[in-house]
Amino acid sequence: MPDINSPIGLFDSGVGGLTVASAIRQALPGEQMIYFGDTAHLPYGDKSKDTIINYSLQITDFLLGKGCKLILIACNSASSNAYKEVRDFVGEKAMVLNVIDPVVEYVANETESHNVGVIGTKATINSETYPRGIQSRNPGIEVSSLATPLLVPMIEEGFIFDDISNAIVRSYLSRKELQGIDSLILGCTHYPIIKNQISRYFNFEVNVIDSAKIVAEKLRDVLTEKHLLRTDKHPGHEFFVSDHTEYFGIIASMFFGEKIKLDKISL
Ligand code: DGL
Repeated sequence: MPDINSPIGLFDSGVGGLTVASAIRQALPGEQMIYFGDTAHLPYGDKSKDTIINYSLQITDFLLGKGCKLILIACNSASSNAYKEVRDFVGEKAMVLNVIDPVVEYVANETESHNVGVIGTKATINSETYPRGIQSRNPGIEVSSLATPLLVPMIEEGFIFDDISNAIVRSYLSRKELQGIDSLILGCTHYPIIKNQISRYFNFEVNVIDSAKIVAEKLRDVLTEKHLLRTDKHPGHEFFVSDHTEYFGIIASMFFGEKIKLDKISL
């Protein structure tokens, strides 16, 4: 059975979840992480629910095999389409957390937001997980969502703070769905990489909310409550991908904020 010294397992379709891993490393320095990026199958945002569930369960099985005490679904597309199935699959073997619920709770309970926009992949936006979650907790908040599928490939190709990305960001953020919002949820773990660019588009007048720090804090609360928060020195993080190219290594280090070594593994 996992104990306090067991690692946290987290996964994403690729390297996006490393923005969450980076926030966890800062907020919970004693925790060891085992990260899986399903680079052979990305993007998840264009896949069907069944396919996202299928991939998520295979990865969860791998992470459970590594003895993880908690599985964090560090991908909005998988959090919105496969959370229940992952929880059922894991049962009592470990805890399961997704990246959406902590943000929904934060927005509904801890902000003064009235008009919230959400951007994310097609899989996340079509699931309506954010508007349902926020409005069931706080019906006074208006939520409008917009799928922004070009942002993931744009970021993965390194188009950040340049003419191409400025044009794409402007074209999405000027859409009618996002007029009059006071807060914007970045409903994809890739988007923190362009948070400043998005804030600048709104002249820093819209509260741009990214899940990384909020999720890391939630994780600390959950582990503390269960007396499973590790505070001593851990043996080092492990990073696995299902397909490896030199480029994944370069952007993975950029997303995590320090140089990391990716190991390729087929599930
Ligand atoms: N990082 C994933 C998410 O948070 C999106 C990438 C993808 O579509 O695979 O939704």
